[in-house]
Amino acid sequence: DIVPVILCGGSGTRLWPLSRETYPKQFVDLGDERTLFKDTVLRARRAPESVEPIIVCNEAHRFYVTAELYASGVHGKILLEPAPRNTAPAIALAAFALAAGEDDPLMLVLPSDHAIDNESTFFDGVARAAKLAARGHIVTFGIEPTGPETGFGYIEQGESLGTEGFKVARFVEKPSLEVAASMLSQGGFSWNSGMFLFRASVYLKELERYAPQIYASCRTAWAERKDDGAFCRPDNAAFLSSPSDSIDYAVMEHTDLAAVVPLHTGWSDLGSWEAFYQAGQPDDCGNVCSGDVMAEGSEGCYFNANHRLVTAIGVRDLVVVETQDAVLVAPRDQVQDVKKIVGRLQRDQ
Ligand code: GDD
Ligand code: MG
Repeated sequence: DIVPVILCGGSGTRLWPLSRETYPKQFVDLGDERTLFKDTVLRARRAPESVEPIIVCNEAHRFYVTAELYASGVHGKILLEPAPRNTAPAIALAAFALAAGEDDPLMLVLPSDHAIDNESTFFDGVARAAKLAARGHIVTFGIEPTGPETGFGYIEQGESLGTEGFKVARFVEKPSLEVAASMLSQGGFSWNSGMFLFRASVYLKELERYAPQIYASCRTAWAERKDDGAFCRPDNAAFLSSPSDSIDYAVMEHTDLAAVVPLHTGWSDLGSWEAFYQAGQPDDCGNVCSGDVMAEGSEGCYFNANHRLVTAIGVRDLVVVETQDAVLVAPRDQVQDVKKIVGRLQRDQ
């Protein structure tokens, strides 16, 4: 069996103003009753050998999760974090939940902010990864890089592990632009997709070795959990005492057990408005529009209207996101700086 573990505790502030701390991007309505979270749940349900998922999310988002699971017709176990501590502790909670059982199953860790074009190619990759994970590997899924992005992990492909994949020679999380560019020109690197497959016990062993404080806090938090049937809550104080770190920095950069299965499918981390533009269907002028939009003589723009009609004349390469109480206007190549706005808003509150 493969247990999907769906992470949806991030706040996705790079998609402000649509995505908020109280309403993160994975629950934002994408039209057609779709959300990134629901897409992920349904994809996980169809994955080979998959059983009921575990969802790890923030206490504040529990009703989004229950509503979306209900709408998807999927049952799952919901683990609630009192506050985010990044992905290494979130995955640890799920691993403790699974390793406690008899069969030490494989866990397929899935972020809830991805678009995957070809599902059968992805499932084929999961099947190959499952064979490596059963042999004790921590398996990553490698994506063909298209540029020196600094927001991703980079995986250097090592020796072959047969038809299934390769050993990871080196894992570099979020390199500087210079380092990313030099890895690309060297060749043999892929991007880390952020999805992982491993045995629960293998992850816990590596976590204990490389991030003992996270391991200890989460072990206590799990041991002293409260489970009311609908939601499972780890002990607050123990969980909050965990350092905050991602699986990538805490484990993947250090472990010798990492393997990579190359994934040859269109994949996108929908982490910025530029990514939404790239993933969207452009019209004849290269504009991607969502909601009520009228554009004249405008090219290469991303327009997202939520409450009002948005009109534009003679503009190029802009992002315009309209919501009831806030509007963002930015050149498409500067949308990363929305985090500056979010930072200012948080300070002013
Ligand atoms: N439950 C929980 N708790 N989930 C979390 C938390 C947390 O504290 N923090 C983040 N997540 C969820 C996010 O909602 C997202 O679905 C997933 O974990 C990954 O977190 P991101 O914050 O989006 O990570 P990233 O995009 O910066 O980097 C990761 O993904 C890249 C690919 O998209 C890394 O794995 C990179 O190496 C990778 O290239
Ligand atoms: Mg992400």
